[in-house]
Amino acid sequence: MRIIVTEDYEGLSIETARIIAGQLALIPRSVLGLATGGTPLGTYQKLIDYHHQHHLDFSQATSFNLDEYVGVATDNPHSYHAYMFKNLFDAINIHRKNIHIPNGMAGDLERECAAYETAIENAGGIDLQLLGIGNNGHIGFNEPDLSFEAITHVVKLDDQTIRANARFFSRPEEVPQYAVSMGIKTIMRARTILLLANGSGKADVIHQALFGEISPRIPASILQLHPNVIVVLEQDAATKLPKTYPNKFLLF
Ligand code: F6R
Repeated sequence: MRIIVTEDYEGLSIETARIIAGQLALIPRSVLGLATGGTPLGTYQKLIDYHHQHHLDFSQATSFNLDEYVGVATDNPHSYHAYMFKNLFDAINIHRKNIHIPNGMAGDLERECAAYETAIENAGGIDLQLLGIGNNGHIGFNEPDLSFEAITHVVKLDDQTIRANARFFSRPEEVPQYAVSMGIKTIMRARTILLLANGSGKADVIHQALFGEISPRIPASILQLHPNVIVVLEQDAATKLPKTYPNKFLLF
């Protein structure tokens, strides 16, 4: 695991966008796993800048988003579909046919989940998976659980997650209770994982996830067992890391 600590959110966004741009430069046909939420917004803006200023090319790339709310239509501004088009896809040259986001409006959600998993396999698997982390340690919407077994599945969102998501909705009753999410197994099959965290509110969970017990109670702790994880932390999210961690790579 390589841990990069940046001075601020701008630095986190630049460092993460550079890693993604490097992946695309080396392998233009890369399969990218993408996340929503507040943390990757700066990264997406940097990728848009690199596309416009340095011709970063997405024309051969394929993307799979981690998750989508159940029962929120794709044209609803709160959907993750809307988020991704507004914050990234509309401003880069990725082909519509290569974009994949779970359909939370599918009549048969189980079938949708199985088809999503098959589509990832058919694309050759995910080369680089971007992740944020929830305050409860979730990655994707894999909430604290009793096992690490899941592939793409329907999730009942945790109360803590519902409260955290409420900031994006005008009324509490609008906040979705269910989502379709890649499972822990889906995420762990990615060749490289890029985990981001910003702000002091994530310091405890980052410490637990990276240095605590590997347990489904902190879903992100499974990442300790992945052979190729890069963690990019804004320095306030890194305050609880052991000072002696040998491979910590400080970027100031
Ligand atoms: C989003 C996702 C979530 C978020 C996590 C952190 O697609 O899967 O796991 O990454 O909730 O969200 P922020 O970045 O808003 O703190």
